[in-house]
Amino acid sequence: MIHRLQRGQVPAKHHTALVVDGELAFEHCYTRRGFEAAYTIMYHRRPPHWVAAEADEGAHPGLGVEAWEGPLRRCHFLPTRLPEGGTPFLSRRQLLGNRDIAIWCARPDRDDDTLVSNADGDELLFVHEGSGRLETPLGVVRFAPGDYVYVPRALPYRVRLDGPAFLLLLECRAGVHVPRQFRNPSGQLTMDAPYSHRDFREPEWPSGGPASLEAPRTLLSLRHGRITRFEIANDPFDVIGWDGMEWPFAFPIRAYQPKTGLVHLPPTTHITFAGGGFVVCSFVPRLVDYGDGAIPCPYPHSSVDCDEFLFYVDGNFTSRKGIGKASVTLHPIGLPHGPHPGRYEASIGTHRTDELAVMVDTFSPLLPTEHARSVEDPEYNRSWVKIAGEKRGSPDDPVAW
Ligand SMILES: [Fe+2]
Repeated sequence: MIHRLQRGQVPAKHHTALVVDGELAFEHCYTRRGFEAAYTIMYHRRPPHWVAAEADEGAHPGLGVEAWEGPLRRCHFLPTRLPEGGTPFLSRRQLLGNRDIAIWCARPDRDDDTLVSNADGDELLFVHEGSGRLETPLGVVRFAPGDYVYVPRALPYRVRLDGPAFLLLLECRAGVHVPRQFRNPSGQLTMDAPYSHRDFREPEWPSGGPASLEAPRTLLSLRHGRITRFEIANDPFDVIGWDGMEWPFAFPIRAYQPKTGLVHLPPTTHITFAGGGFVVCSFVPRLVDYGDGAIPCPYPHSSVDCDEFLFYVDGNFTSRKGIGKASVTLHPIGLPHGPHPGRYEASIGTHRTDELAVMVDTFSPLLPTEHARSVEDPEYNRSWVKIAGEKRGSPDDPVAW
């Protein structure tokens, strides 16, 4: 997805014999868009496709039913009220979804005890709290709070945690990639892209290769929302070497280089990743619009072809009533949205914001599940109306976007 890497031992030419310790290695081509797009070639000591046993485990316990219920409204969900504990893979609960993306939250407190894979989409994890490591057949990716962690579709992995964590998980059903405008004709990230190749944390190659990680042979594979348990015949991590463009990485949100202007730039200026049917944007601490008379606070807007999801990470959003860290808002098509009363006026003359948030704008309706509705704040929409009726706001109000 980012650039080509090579790890371990590979033959001089692809699709040719690699003999290690007197034994022929097995090439494993991992390809995108059929065989037409990015690919990675791994070399296994044993055939990677032999399965000793398999069993249907039924629907993922956190899978939700995507449906709009009740009147059109601005929604506020409180994922901190979701149950705590469990493994990263099995404790996740789906909050929202459509055909292109599903948004899950997890509050795990222990490692995955099997390998897992998500065949329903590329995974883009956002680490809100906690740290640890993602173990894969391509190497190990360390992560910390504020990291996006990318896991290509159906790549087996295991998350190991240093302690309890809070993860936002974007299941990118229609794929996810670096926006095309950030590439030059040679495929390199452009010099005015909001990040450079150096910002992406590559997988580390363990001493002794991934086989030294002693991966479990049990794999839980998610496809069509159901889990199938496989007992893999050979070590899935017995990779001698690999090269290619598809590999897991971490990208720290604070490495994102925001753009500001004389006057306010639209939210999509903060685009970080693009998917089929959605974009992911990062709002990071930054200087704000500096032109004469500029209003740094976003204008009320009707982006009439997008539903807007926001995950609040840190910063000054606490001045918005009822919003806290890890709050989720959904502002659907059909209602204009924007700053709370008072914030628009109060933003004039301010010079910076310390907000930290992840936004997903989707072009298909983003529908809540029963897990989201179970933690919905019923006052959010009503309190907004009430505030608007009572008070226009004052310049003394703290600024929130
Ligand atoms: Fe918006």
